[in-house]
Amino acid sequence: MTRGRFEGQVGIVTGGGSGIGRATSIGFAQDGGRVVICELDPDRAAETLALIGAVSPQECRSVVGDLTTAETADALVQAADELGGADVLVNCAGFGGGRAAYDSFDPELWSRIFAVNVDGPFQLIGRVIKQMAERGKGAIVNVASAAGLVGEPGIYGYSASKAAIVNLTRALALFYANQGVRVNCVCPGVTDTNFLSNVRAAPDADQLFARYAEMMPIGRLAQPEEIAAAILFLASDAASFCVGSVLAVDGGWTAQ
Ligand SMILES: NC(=O)c1ccc[n+]([C@@H]2O[C@H](COP(=O)([O-])OP(=O)(O)OC[C@H]3O[C@@H](n4cnc5c(N)ncnc54)[C@H](O)[C@@H]3O)[C@@H](O)[C@H]2O)c1
Repeated sequence: MTRGRFEGQVGIVTGGGSGIGRATSIGFAQDGGRVVICELDPDRAAETLALIGAVSPQECRSVVGDLTTAETADALVQAADELGGADVLVNCAGFGGGRAAYDSFDPELWSRIFAVNVDGPFQLIGRVIKQMAERGKGAIVNVASAAGLVGEPGIYGYSASKAAIVNLTRALALFYANQGVRVNCVCPGVTDTNFLSNVRAAPDADQLFARYAEMMPIGRLAQPEEIAAAILFLASDAASFCVGSVLAVDGGWTAQ
């Protein structure tokens, strides 16, 4: 019998209640790992645990809360420690700011975007990386965005925050490269998830989705499983020589 890629491993996945984080959590569990998801929305968290339960006998847990708080970060690490300690951390949850982000110089919105997309991952990484280094093994995958590689007109805070997590990835990866901890980053292009709920609710949603598809050289949006596949690759031993990699999974958008 072939062993799953994550057998015997414990993974923390933030934003595990929806979209890319949910697909990543299910994939990790399907490959033999035990997952602790972090999710703001209790219903979404429960749904993901049920979906995992349908494909994997592994024990998985959820921590319902805001990843930007120390309380939630502590609870996540404690839950992972109870399962044996985090081998993998996927910082997937993100905040785009919704339509208000366009053309907005609102400092509160800017702060919230950075709190979720940069400060939260930073404090979680700080709680697990030393333990990983002591063990001599660990993988951290940050989910940035194609919008962190190129400028996106109008959504300044989101683009800047995603660029920050790209370079946080590189700096940490270099520091821990010879201690067995790999830090890498995935930059998704437009992906069909709840992240686009504002667009979906717009009266001209069909046109907006068609425009997104047109923008992508591949001619369509990504499915969350296609992004999860890249995250899980970087989290796995198959990516043993990937250190500080910034992998665009964007249908060719940033290749233009
Ligand atoms: N969907 C896209 O088009 C797209 C494109 C590029 C990058 N991304 C990035 O991919 C990541 C995942 O996005 P997605 O498309 O799966 O979104 P999604 O909205 O489907 O899922 C994100 C989940 O994270 C949760 N979450 C948000 N803030 C949280 C917080 N503070 N604490 C705990 N949970 C929180 C949400 O409740 C949600 O369930 C994000 O970082 C996003 O910026 C998405």
